[in-house]
Amino acid sequence: MYLFKRVADLQEALGQEKKAGKRIGFAPTMGALHQGHISLINEAKTQCDIVVSSIFVNPTQFNDPKDFEKYPVTIKEDILALSGAGTDILFLPSVEEMYPEGVNGKHPHYGFGYLETVLEGAYRPNHFQGVGIVVHKLLNIVEPDDLFMGQKDFQQCMIIKRLLEITGIPAKLHICPTLRETDGLAMSSRNMRLSPSERQTAAQISRTLLYIKENVKQLPFPEIKQNAWKQLQDAGFQPDYVEIANADDLQLLDKPLPSGQMVMLIAAKLGEIRLIDNMLT
Ligand code: PAF
Repeated sequence: MYLFKRVADLQEALGQEKKAGKRIGFAPTMGALHQGHISLINEAKTQCDIVVSSIFVNPTQFNDPKDFEKYPVTIKEDILALSGAGTDILFLPSVEEMYPEGVNGKHPHYGFGYLETVLEGAYRPNHFQGVGIVVHKLLNIVEPDDLFMGQKDFQQCMIIKRLLEITGIPAKLHICPTLRETDGLAMSSRNMRLSPSERQTAAQISRTLLYIKENVKQLPFPEIKQNAWKQLQDAGFQPDYVEIANADDLQLLDKPLPSGQMVMLIAAKLGEIRLIDNMLT
């Protein structure tokens, strides 16, 4: 695996691969890698000739400075995990390399519309603008044919789909399924920050999503959401939202869709740690 810290060096290496007609796959990350990230690399390897990953904890997407400071950093382990998984190139830029204009400099504003006003958008102001800024930069740098992202961040995937439409960047987006621990907890870098007892409780989110999934066709939505909310609270969570939405456009639903896919989404805090998860039905 080659590791580049500078845009120019990465682009020189990639240029040669592109000239040789190689298909480039890209999985952007913020590090603190787990098997969910590795599954993106594995999928990219089945579809592409050259797999690029990046590790960059992006300051502009953290609405809460404390969350940014405490975001887990495990670079040594991440490098080993990525090279073990067969990643060809790792891009590990500094903040200055990614933001030569300065983190507080002038950035584009993306018209994500409704998508950034609901759920994560409502609870994390400007978060998706920050994601848009950094993913747009990374896509311009790497110019991948294929982009691999995890369904765990369902709304983020929709934002990136919209970003590709807005910018006309021709990368194909692949949304890869959420990987779960044996007790159902969705894999997430933030799980590392849970205490042992919080870690046990954390699996309640996926149990509650399963409860919603099982009842979505039988019970009225307000009742389902109320029961789900109570399950989370009884387990020790402070829920931010429990919602059922149209999986195509994230419009919130108060009754089942006559046709088409629905998505159930939860965000809830356990102590200091805010977890999100979703399931499709
Ligand atoms: O999902 C993430 O890890 C980040 O939001 C991303 C897409 C790498 C942008 O910083």
